[in-house]
Amino acid sequence: METWKFFDITHKEHIICNPASLEKYQHLIDLLHLPPNANVLEIAMGKGEFIIRVAEQYAVKGVGVDLSPYCVRDARAKLAERAPQANITFLQMDGADYQPDKAESFDLTVCLGASWIFDGHKGTLAALKAMTRPGGLIAVGEPYWQQEPDPDYLKTAGFERDLFGSHYKNVLTGQEMGLVLLYTLVSNRDDWDVYEGRQWFAAENYAQAHPEDPDVSELLERVRAQKKEYLQWGRDTLGWAIYLFRKVD
Ligand SMILES: C[S@@+](CC[C@H](N)C(=O)[O-])C[C@H]1O[C@@H](n2cnc3c(N)ncnc32)[C@H](O)[C@@H]1O
Repeated sequence: METWKFFDITHKEHIICNPASLEKYQHLIDLLHLPPNANVLEIAMGKGEFIIRVAEQYAVKGVGVDLSPYCVRDARAKLAERAPQANITFLQMDGADYQPDKAESFDLTVCLGASWIFDGHKGTLAALKAMTRPGGLIAVGEPYWQQEPDPDYLKTAGFERDLFGSHYKNVLTGQEMGLVLLYTLVSNRDDWDVYEGRQWFAAENYAQAHPEDPDVSELLERVRAQKKEYLQWGRDTLGWAIYLFRKVD
């Protein structure tokens, strides 16, 4: 089954494609205090909810990048509806290939829940730091281990133990690069249940409505396996947080 089709179906009910919440996104955006005409970059912006909210609240310009054609389509439609005057461009491309016109030029750089693009949390912070102006802000969303993962969980999910660190380690990684931690927004169980549950819900509904789709059996097999994995292990083991840093020099 085509990757982007799978994610489009499983995230049909999501406004944000992460275990955060709209309240947490808004809480963070309220704290940004961006100046007029600030330049914003979001890598893997999904359906664009974060950057569009930023554009609604502050008179910013910016770029959103995502590899999924479905996400870019949804983000463009949402921008046209909610902030048509905003100078925001959405690009369908690999975030790893995005090159800004000028290094260290963005007032805010963001990547919420797609650190694999830059080979992990450290690589993501390094890539965003290189594109952020001195004094600018960097926001990343990243999982962390809440408790030591069960070996069976790692095996079933296909995760290496070192794929994620602890919450504190995620902070230290930024600090060791000279970034200053300003804030953390930590997702709770309810946020996780909503994020995971909406995927099961959307997939089961899609399967019921499209029995003729040859991808349905694979879709259900994958989503039901994810559901089991989450309920058996992930719910107690995996955390998620957004980390807001300032680049000081
Ligand atoms: C977990 S979702 C997060 C979406 C968004 N940040 C949000 O909070 O709603 C991951 C996103 O990464 C995008 N993505 C995956 N690989 C990518 C890549 N190599 N370059 C750019 N975007 C990518 C997916 O299409 C998806 O929108």
